[in-house]
Amino acid sequence: MSTTSFTPRVFSGIQPSGGLTLGNYLGAIKRFVDMQGPDFETVYCMVDLHAISVWQDPAALAHNTRELCAGFIAAGIDPEKSILINQSQVPEHAQLGWIFNCVARMGWMQRMTQFKDKAGKNAQNVSLGLFGYPALMAADILVYHATHVPVGEDQKQHLELTRDIAAKFNHDYGVDFFPITEPVIEGAATRVMSLRDGSKKMSKSDPSDASRINMTDDADTIAKKIRKAKTDPDALPSEAKGLEDRPEARNLVNIYASLSDQSVDQVLGEVGGQQFGTFKPKLAELAVSKLSPISSEMARLMNDPSEIDRILSHGAARAREITAPILRQTYEIVGMVGPV
Ligand code: TYM
Repeated sequence: MSTTSFTPRVFSGIQPSGGLTLGNYLGAIKRFVDMQGPDFETVYCMVDLHAISVWQDPAALAHNTRELCAGFIAAGIDPEKSILINQSQVPEHAQLGWIFNCVARMGWMQRMTQFKDKAGKNAQNVSLGLFGYPALMAADILVYHATHVPVGEDQKQHLELTRDIAAKFNHDYGVDFFPITEPVIEGAATRVMSLRDGSKKMSKSDPSDASRINMTDDADTIAKKIRKAKTDPDALPSEAKGLEDRPEARNLVNIYASLSDQSVDQVLGEVGGQQFGTFKPKLAELAVSKLSPISSEMARLMNDPSEIDRILSHGAARAREITAPILRQTYEIVGMVGPV
């Protein structure tokens, strides 16, 4: 079943498992803001249930959830236009997650590269939640009958699994109930790379703080990290093709393009021929001008955590108007006897 018979609805989520990076901002939040508008209903989620698939200190989890909410709002998510929630306040996510645990196959989960990367050699010792994570992620999306899911490149395989789960559920129960969701992986910054190693994703879990820009970094720190970013000795090319074997150069140009809402070719039209000594200060200035207002607004919002809590509980009430009927219908399809 295509997505055409469903209300156009966007869902996406971010783990409150530490600070936000420039990768999260460009690959996800900035694009969430762009999708807010008349074309879609938009639901954005702090996925706290996912976060605890690896150990989280309880006080830090609560802080990070509120800080992430502040980050969403500071970046331009309007809690009236979008539904803004933390996952644990909308119990239908976990309830549908259980049904999907019974739909997804062990073999499908074992193929998930993100699980293999995260578990590493320690696979016997990680939580069962980390293994089952993608089934809960499918539930996050499908409990809203979401049609579009904007994410960075690293989530592509999880979204393919979401489609497989929806298709198997529909097939097994002989229904056309869940949409086959469209991943939206677009723009110049779907995979922002480490500033120290152009072959590694920029990540909050990288031990080197110099490898990433954090949304809470001050202007001097941002400028310093960009100045020290790994590059090669050549000048910038004037066409995108010239970046093919230059991962570090490509990464910085992609970041510039995304921050300035331009295509890579437009950026290279402007900076092609320049040395990094000229380009890096420009990039630093652009990054500071875009990120500083967000980080200061985040800090301001964090001064009033009770307002954030109020926004989240308002979001959860709105979310449940969508999720409760979809879960109830799912239970009926599965044959669960409900209350009279
Ligand atoms: P998470 O919390 O790791 O990342 C949140 C979003 O940020 C994107 N992202 C990046 N994009 C570009 N470059 C990077 N270096 C980079 N690092 C992170 C991610 O692709 C993601 O879009 N499993 C998800 C959370 C989740 C979810 C969902 C997402 C749970 N349920 C349902 C969509 C729909 C995750 O761990 O993202």
